[in-house]
Amino acid sequence: MERLDKVIAGTGRWSRREVKDLVRQGRVLVDGQCAAAPDEKIDPEQVEIRVDGEAVGYARFTYVMLHKPAGVLTATEDSRQSTVLDLLPAAWRKKGLAPVGRLDKDTEGLLLLTDDGGLTHRLLSPKYHVDKLYYARVAADLEPSDEEAFAAGMTLDDGLVCRPAGLEILSARECLVTLQEGKFHQVKRMLAYRGKPVTYLKRLAMGPLRLDEGLAPGAYRTLTEEELGLLKK
Ligand code: URA
Repeated sequence: MERLDKVIAGTGRWSRREVKDLVRQGRVLVDGQCAAAPDEKIDPEQVEIRVDGEAVGYARFTYVMLHKPAGVLTATEDSRQSTVLDLLPAAWRKKGLAPVGRLDKDTEGLLLLTDDGGLTHRLLSPKYHVDKLYYARVAADLEPSDEEAFAAGMTLDDGLVCRPAGLEILSARECLVTLQEGKFHQVKRMLAYRGKPVTYLKRLAMGPLRLDEGLAPGAYRTLTEEELGLLKK
């Protein structure tokens, strides 16, 4: 059994404070009856909750697509700098939402956050070879030999062994990179090794999940049923 306000706030659509007001204003129905109090105990899997007549679905886990902007850390908390969790409703932080993998502070693009630890583990495990697709701009002209070097895999000067990866040249200084690994600064390090330092980096996709281009940097939404189905496959 869980508190009604916690369950409703868990959707991320209202804060706990707002839920309290909704309940007091008689706008929340539990199985068709006006909810008595925000701290009423309910079994979220057994009852139907409606707010202003609209059914509020209960899901055990939350899955969020964030268009990470540059300038925020991929972390759940930091004493000095803002993190991706600061961009999301507080109720999700309390639910234990955490990023799946990491983007550098200056990298933008697709970041998935969830409290489903099992899925996080599968998406990050090297065993499952989940492709990560990046768009990069670089400070020197790309050449076909760069594509070949990525395809062959490379060992960087610092000893980092990078498995074969995809590089597709879009224009002299723009490319798409596909990696199945996620080592620290890997795209930047691989391109820098080829003499093409990265000036801008954005993640476009992770496995079957593509960044929704309708999301401005800093905006987020929950995954659709279809996206979640594809991801779990
Ligand atoms: N590779 C990088 O260098 N940075 C990122 O943020 C992600 C992949």
